[in-house]
Amino acid sequence: MPPEPLRAQIARSNVALSLATAEADMPLIMVNRGFQRLTGFEQAAVLGRNCRFLQDDTTPVHQIAAMSAFLKDASRDDGRFPVLNRRHDGSGFLNLVFLSKLRDQQGRIRFVIASQFDITTARQAAALAGNDEVLIGTLDTMRQTIGHFGLTMTDSAGLIARSITTLARFAVRDE
Ligand SMILES: Cc1cc2nc3c(=O)[nH]c(=O)nc-3n(C[C@H](O)[C@H](O)[C@H](O)COP(=O)(O)O)c2cc1C
Repeated sequence: MPPEPLRAQIARSNVALSLATAEADMPLIMVNRGFQRLTGFEQAAVLGRNCRFLQDDTTPVHQIAAMSAFLKDASRDDGRFPVLNRRHDGSGFLNLVFLSKLRDQQGRIRFVIASQFDITTARQAAALAGNDEVLIGTLDTMRQTIGHFGLTMTDSAGLIARSITTLARFAVRDE
């Protein structure tokens, strides 16, 4: 189970966050209010499930493959991936998923933290900078917190800052 201060921090953060264990098929062990608001799924409905339940048969396979390759690649610690998802109410959205691995002192992956953001429209994508400022702050505090429990997480500030400039590559729809 994750350290309680980490859970508290995830619960408190104003950005969408989800946490999975690295065991088995990476089941979710916690999602916060931001995640529930974004996806329409209550925490009780998603615990124990792999987060791929947000995908469906319209999700491009290359988008899924990019996340799968990242999670399998021991040399990579963080990444950000656009993926077509579906909310509880059936509406589709382009989800920009940030993923980062939490490792123990032996370098083994223990947890994966994720942050989701809706970039479906240009207007929504324009709010990414504000989201990312909060996300970077949240991750900084989180890194300190987990350090007390012998867990490490890479500094993703650079990767997150770069997503603004690469956003143009993604299929953002004008409204
Ligand atoms: C903590 C966590 C959160 C994730 N969040 C999402 C998400 O919001 N949307 C999504 O499509 N995939 C998400 N994923 C990725 C999928 O769970 C899965 O890893 C991906 O589909 C690749 O693996 P697969 O090919 O076995 O499905 C998340 C993964 C983890 C570990």
